Amino acid sequence: PRLMPEPFRSKMIEPLSLPCRSTREAVLKTSQYNMFQLKSRDVYLDLLTDSGTGAMSKEQWAAMMNGDEAYAGANSFFNLKKAVQELLGFDHVIPTHQGRGAEHVVFGSLAQPGDVIPMNMPFDTTRAHIFHAGARPLSCVVDEAFQPGLDAPFKGNVDLGKLELVLAQHPRQRIPLIMVTVTNNSGGGQPVSLENLQACARMARARGIPLFLDAARMAENAWFIQQREPSCKDLSCAQILRRMMDCADAITVSCKKDALVNIGGLVATRTEALYYQLAPRTILFEGYLSYGGLAGRDLEALACGLREMVDEEYLAHRVAQVGYLGDQLSEVGVPVLRPVGGHAVFIDASAFLPHIPRRYYPADVLSIEVYREGAIRGVGLGALAFEETDLSTGEKIPPQLELYRLAVPRRAYSNHHMDYVAQMVAAVYQRRNSIRYGLKLARESPVPGLAHFVAQLE
Ligand code: F0G
Repeated sequence: PRLMPEPFRSKMIEPLSLPCRSTREAVLKTSQYNMFQLKSRDVYLDLLTDSGTGAMSKEQWAAMMNGDEAYAGANSFFNLKKAVQELLGFDHVIPTHQGRGAEHVVFGSLAQPGDVIPMNMPFDTTRAHIFHAGARPLSCVVDEAFQPGLDAPFKGNVDLGKLELVLAQHPRQRIPLIMVTVTNNSGGGQPVSLENLQACARMARARGIPLFLDAARMAENAWFIQQREPSCKDLSCAQILRRMMDCADAITVSCKKDALVNIGGLVATRTEALYYQLAPRTILFEGYLSYGGLAGRDLEALACGLREMVDEEYLAHRVAQVGYLGDQLSEVGVPVLRPVGGHAVFIDASAFLPHIPRRYYPADVLSIEVYREGAIRGVGLGALAFEETDLSTGEKIPPQLELYRLAVPRRAYSNHHMDYVAQMVAAVYQRRNSIRYGLKLARESPVPGLAHFVAQLE
């Protein structure tokens, strides 16, 4: 694979160390084989998530000194609002402490028990928030999303036929909103095309249903559109981003991803009416409308991060670095979900460990083995995270995909670190046939949709 050198250099470093094999064995046991229970000091390369784990720029650090900590109407809020207006085109902005805060505000305010939320696919907390509101997400993603080996440009797209069917089968008042996740994290960080977003917007508008984007990885999605959608090849990522946003009535954003901050989220709406619908819950659970649970300095770092995320030199390296890791793994035969996503390499754990039945959580076995091999922390996104229980029979229904994710923090690790990850995963692949165990839950999670976070495994 072609190496793309980093368009930044380090001026402050965080020392890392590789724990020895006996330490790794010991901490696997004490963490009950759950990656969320590991201490970060016991991890060498932490690819658990790309969320809140990136490195801020010197401009962001400098902006933090301008934080205005007023309870209401802080300058920092207006700086954030201006960045959102200029980049995304929404006039009404509600900061939240992170993405799930935005989800709580939106689904808690708009969804009722018995409602359905058509989506391409929800990620874990989004799904859990929909359940928490008594509603159900209905996946309408294209079938290609469930074929990990298939190379297709926009595997995050909504299948318009499936969406049409859902809209026809449910009364308008049971569908408070449609949501499209860009890029589609649960399906491998795959992008949604501009054409598809525009078609979803037309269908939503025709029925008077608001279209929301879960825009956590909106800039990476814009990059893929520029690279893969011929009609957009001459547009800048900023222009494409704006066109994506023009499709939506509102967005929820975890700003811990593309927006390059360690904490923060937002909701932005087109209309004042929707803004005021969301306001009470924001004030009750997040904070006053001009800070939403964030410090003024966080709002400043976020305003700056939003402007940086569309820098094309940055985006080119970002996506290439993830692709570089994925391509190295593909070359040695590891079943990598193709094409490689924007923020993470996803491995098809069912193909990697075909001899381990789904009910014994092969994606999570892979997490353990990659940690054991090289003190690298990834995460299983398979049955443990996404299984559903049939309410009538109590039977567990596994999701269609059993994925293991290596998410790459932004601007934090070097390409050399990626070489190391590739070597370690390749070593696990070499010995895959000798991995002959499965996992079971020591006890059931009491919270629907959150089992993987708190699971104690045996
Ligand atoms: N939407 C998407 C698509 C996400 O990937 C996440 C978080 C959220 C919403 C929630 O945002 O964490 O700020 O509350 N995803 C992280 C991950 C945690 O590891 O992919 P949050």
